[in-house]
Amino acid sequence: MKLILAPLQGVTDYHFRNSWSRFFGGIDEMVAPFIPAVSGSRVKPVHVRDVLPEHNAPDLHLIPQVLANESGGMMLLAREFVRLGYTEMNWNLGCPSAVVSRHGRGCGLMPKPMVVQSILREIMDDLPLKLSVKLRSGMYSTAELPEMLRVLNDFPLSCIIHHPRLGVQMYEGAPDPASFAVTLSMSKHPVVYNGDILTPKDLLELKHKFPEVDQWMLGRGVLKNPLLPELIRGRTSGSDSENINRIRQFYHHLEDSLLAQGITPHRLSSRLKEYWRYFSYWFADPPKIWYAISRTTSYESLKQDAGDILAHGRWAIDKE
Ligand SMILES: Cc1cc2nc3c(=O)[nH]c(=O)nc-3n(C[C@H](O)[C@H](O)[C@H](O)COP(=O)(O)O)c2cc1C
Repeated sequence: MKLILAPLQGVTDYHFRNSWSRFFGGIDEMVAPFIPAVSGSRVKPVHVRDVLPEHNAPDLHLIPQVLANESGGMMLLAREFVRLGYTEMNWNLGCPSAVVSRHGRGCGLMPKPMVVQSILREIMDDLPLKLSVKLRSGMYSTAELPEMLRVLNDFPLSCIIHHPRLGVQMYEGAPDPASFAVTLSMSKHPVVYNGDILTPKDLLELKHKFPEVDQWMLGRGVLKNPLLPELIRGRTSGSDSENINRIRQFYHHLEDSLLAQGITPHRLSSRLKEYWRYFSYWFADPPKIWYAISRTTSYESLKQDAGDILAHGRWAIDKE
């Protein structure tokens, strides 16, 4: 069984990936948050900052992700990834945010299989690395999915990662197992399931439903419970207090890593707040914790409140 960390823009960047993997295990591969393709003849280091080898612990199996709707920029990034030492990249056909999809990128490509086909035709022969695709069930309707899968079947992809929601749903509503089953039955490529795996029990139920799937992508579940991959693999042997200590150490490592980047206290505080949307689930009353953190008005007050919560909060790390 392969477990893959999902890309979450602004969340699972190198600070998170390095800090998490220093204290926890069980993840085989990590897909980095998307990097938009750029026009021009050269990729500036700032564009690929998150995947620069000097920022990423060498033992992470990292796969960079590209957001693109034309072959030139995609090829430019692919060559840059190879120059940085990568052998595979992922193409984002799933991002539902309006600024992305409105311009026919991310999930905005799901209703446009012919655009995807022409890009793949243009790049595939010269592509210097392996390519995988991450998609949704459609932008507006699951009726978009079969044609996209037929197009993708004509190209040698390393896998298809399917998050079975529509773009218009964003992250609302339950994932749709029926559309995932369509990908499983139609795709010639290995298929990875992604969406709402929050506990080992969730994964067991999905395995029962889709016994042929052997690759699973975990996103918010790992943020809400950093022990999740170990729990899934039955590898967490420490006592509760040892595990809670590991989580505290992880948090401080993450904070220190962000601090070392030299960002302003204001920016640091908004970065940490983004994490606390998920980290609040480490405790018994997530809305109360999130409320307390979200209303802090400075880095100093966030640090104070976070310190109190980490030291005295009612921990609730789910093991089911
Ligand atoms: C804040 C946020 C940022 C995301 N950024 C990306 C991204 O950069 N690339 C991508 O393919 N998916 C992105 N996603 C989608 C996740 O990778 C994943 O598909 C989704 O969260 C469902 O999986 P989960 O329920 O395990 O979190 C993002 C999701 C969230 C909530």
